[in-house]
Amino acid sequence: MKDISNYIETHQNRFISELVDLLKMPSISADSAYKKDVLNTAEAVKKSLLDAGCDLAEICETPGNPIVYGEKIIDKNLPTVLVYGHYDVQPADPIDLWTSPPFDPVIKKTDLHPEGAIFARGACDDKGQMYMHVKALEFMTKTDQLPCNVKFMIEGEEEVGSENLAWFVPRNLEKLANDVILISDTGMIAKDVPSITTGLRGLSYVEVEVTGPNRDLHSGLYGGAVANPINVLSKMIASLHDENNHITIPGFYDKVEELSTEERAEMAKAPFSLEAYKKSIDIDAVYGEEGFTTNERNSIRPTLDVNGIWGGYIGEGAKTVLPSKAYAKISMRLVPHQDWHEITDLFTKHFESIAPQGVRVKVKPHHGGQGYVTPIDSMGYQAASKAYHETFGKTPIPQRSGGSIPIVALFEEQLKSKTILMGFGLDSDDIHSPNEHFGVWNYLKGIETIPWFYKYFRELSE
Ligand code: BES
Ligand code: MN
Ligand code: MN
Repeated sequence: MKDISNYIETHQNRFISELVDLLKMPSISADSAYKKDVLNTAEAVKKSLLDAGCDLAEICETPGNPIVYGEKIIDKNLPTVLVYGHYDVQPADPIDLWTSPPFDPVIKKTDLHPEGAIFARGACDDKGQMYMHVKALEFMTKTDQLPCNVKFMIEGEEEVGSENLAWFVPRNLEKLANDVILISDTGMIAKDVPSITTGLRGLSYVEVEVTGPNRDLHSGLYGGAVANPINVLSKMIASLHDENNHITIPGFYDKVEELSTEERAEMAKAPFSLEAYKKSIDIDAVYGEEGFTTNERNSIRPTLDVNGIWGGYIGEGAKTVLPSKAYAKISMRLVPHQDWHEITDLFTKHFESIAPQGVRVKVKPHHGGQGYVTPIDSMGYQAASKAYHETFGKTPIPQRSGGSIPIVALFEEQLKSKTILMGFGLDSDDIHSPNEHFGVWNYLKGIETIPWFYKYFRELSE
């Protein structure tokens, strides 16, 4: 990859300003008010692929948001890399907590990013990381160094469950045929500790509704004599963990893979400071399942968390009311071998069974997906490892992440190829939170590292 550093230095301002333009587009998939912006963003991504040297780029319609597909096929006998990413973003709220508007990107310095970081919704998740691949392709095509065929599949519904990508993939197996799938939509341990994500958790997301009396009642006249759905829901939720913070749903852990002592010891070698971790989120103690470390709790163990809970009166002042209904949104992060449909069923049966008399319970499944683990001896992993070594001067550490990209398991099932997760974000980049940002250094380092992946993947294939 001759002259990559020079190329980046010469073009870095444009690389940043093009990303800034993309970040100005509020492509929020969860909110239909932004449909037009979502479509405009897909068009912008398509154009960027053509500009970067794709021979073909197209907008593929689905029952939902379109998928942008692009390709550059240089020789049918060479290996093909399929790049996946998403151009949709999370909603920006709570807006008040942003120090600059979420769709008006600005570059600010932070302690971890003294070179500056781009602050905007989607900066890291995933527009910035996806765009690294577009610019890496630009470098390889403009300098005549593209070693493999390349295909891009950039979707617009990752943040809402990728339902229509799951529809698209089986209908386009030939078009999407590849030798390896490359994704930058995860993180790395630290700027001087490169890592490759080797695992993602699965997900089961449900909404529950508890109904008591047929209408809101006076909490003095009826209170104490009628089941209060919020009291009941709180109690039911509390019972889902025992005193050791194990999840109490029968059968929940049946398929959980227990890691060997050796594997756990290997994991524990990754640099981690509990003090810094606590300080970064301003807590005085960590909390979680007995018998596991913080890094184990958020990667190799399944979880159950309430994401939102509501009901009754939440306006200003006090209103004495015994509510008719209470609701909660609950997510369960799953580990490999736990099947998300099965877990959703187990949750539903259990939750219905623990409802006391006097209330009715409804469980509505939302989206979900299977977890993923990838071996470190695959050709793709080895190529990625060598690529990081080239640009960081260190061998990257394999790391299981707690996050989910549910479509990855489906890719392996349908496209029969391994996914390599080369993430360049930091946990502190505030993805999904107010003030999401992506370090300029990380962005440029990603652009520099990706071409080496292509080079080594081709070499290892020969
Ligand atoms: N890019 C994230 C997932 C991620 C981030 C994995 C960091 C590992 C490290 C992705 O966009 C995401 O937010 N996924 C959702 C699940 C999806 C079904 C909404 C998640 O993990 O909550
Ligand atoms: Mn993402
Ligand atoms: Mn996300």
